[in-house]
Amino acid sequence: MAVTVIVGTQWGDEGKGKITDLLSRDMDLVVRYQGGNNAGHTVVIKNEIFKLHLIPSGIFFSNVLCVIGNGVVIDPAVLVQEIETLQAKGYSADNLRISSQAHVIFPYHRYLDQAQEKKREAGRIGTTCRGIGPCYVDKFNRRGIRISDLYNEKLVREKLEWNIEEKSFLLEKFYAFDKKVNLEQLLNEYLGYAHAIKKYVVEESTALVHQAIAKKKNVLLEGAQGTMLDVDQGTYPFVTSSNPVSGGACVGAGVGPKDIDEVIGVVKAYITRVGSGPFPTEIEGKLGDDLREKGGEYGATTGRPRRCGWFDGVVMKFSARINSLSQLAVTKLDVLDGLDKINICTAYEYKGSKITDFPTDINRLALCKPVYEEAPGWKEDTSKITNYQELPSNAKKYLDKLAEIAETKVSMISVGAERGQIIKV
Ligand code: GDP
Ligand code: IMO
Ligand code: MG
Repeated sequence: MAVTVIVGTQWGDEGKGKITDLLSRDMDLVVRYQGGNNAGHTVVIKNEIFKLHLIPSGIFFSNVLCVIGNGVVIDPAVLVQEIETLQAKGYSADNLRISSQAHVIFPYHRYLDQAQEKKREAGRIGTTCRGIGPCYVDKFNRRGIRISDLYNEKLVREKLEWNIEEKSFLLEKFYAFDKKVNLEQLLNEYLGYAHAIKKYVVEESTALVHQAIAKKKNVLLEGAQGTMLDVDQGTYPFVTSSNPVSGGACVGAGVGPKDIDEVIGVVKAYITRVGSGPFPTEIEGKLGDDLREKGGEYGATTGRPRRCGWFDGVVMKFSARINSLSQLAVTKLDVLDGLDKINICTAYEYKGSKITDFPTDINRLALCKPVYEEAPGWKEDTSKITNYQELPSNAKKYLDKLAEIAETKVSMISVGAERGQIIKV
């Protein structure tokens, strides 16, 4: 009987998929509220690994309606593939719904993403090159094509003509990009996707949410990416093109802020980042490499190695406030098993003084050095623990410190990728 938001508190890949799956058994509705197939949310069920890019991570419960919300950008080729993969593994996907207001990614969005990254050279963001940014640009520029448009051939043709003319000019003349887009081919392809996903498309996805709220059902709003990748609040310009923060859930799922009861911040026990941009607590060298191997820190979407670092309390504090966190779900605690000492960044040193408010300007952030407190590690294997009391005392102290920094209670601790590897506090 509550509306809960799941939000990434760091630079993404905190384990949102796992936590969403975990909570979904008690939900009636799960809505993905932003991003696109730049996301890769992993759910592991009995050794079988699912990497979801667009479909909400509640999809494995057939009685839970899973909505791709209006705030999401959809590459229909990826969506169709994802539905087929689920079906091949015995999940019907009949509980999927797609907002007709969601925007559509076309190949020219991907080409522009690739071309822009190439041209940026040293200033490269390290995007996933999935066309996410250019698609959101079209949305905000009111040039976008929405899922509903795909069912009006005349309209989609007109919109595509305009878009292809503009993008072809840019790709050829400005970016000297070699791939071309053909209107008839594209139209055919996309009308095919439209047909394939038609049974899932709903005109009023927000009404589904409102009805569920009115009936006091349980609703989960699943974010993608993370707070520090938020286009407004993150490390701009090294961010994604949407609002992963909890406020984005209101816009991307169509609920008002007063309807939200709980905001669960998913926090990795350490921290990772894929792509470029500042990362104050990054660990270079062997220790960083060891953490990457032990944590399996390779992108679920692009396979790129993730940069690894120590837990950053300055980011945590910022994230707790920006998102109004009410609970923390700490993930990957098991990856820290066996370390002698663990660093916790509690402040940054900036021009000789200590600061604890996250600098919004990356030029200032670049001058910040992490200030660490050293916490003692633990030798025990935590991956089989299901009861909080059984955790090593140093692990409990570590979690207490995280909660103290976030001024938020820890309600869940994940100690492995499998569905059952969870400690509820
Ligand atoms: P998301 O994008 O936030 O959903 O996270 P990803 O799925 O991209 O990355 C998280 C990775 O860690 C995935 O490979 C998960 O299977 C894995 N994972 C999640 N929770 C845990 C955990 O508690 N321990 C370990 N060892 N792996 C975990
Ligand atoms: P999930 O939901 C981690 C990063 C990219 C790049 C920046 C912009 O799995 O946590 P984009 O393609 O969005 O324009 O790239 O954002 N990024 C992610 N990093 N996890 C994600 O999603 C990400 N989605 C985008 O690496 O730095
Ligand atoms: Mg991910």
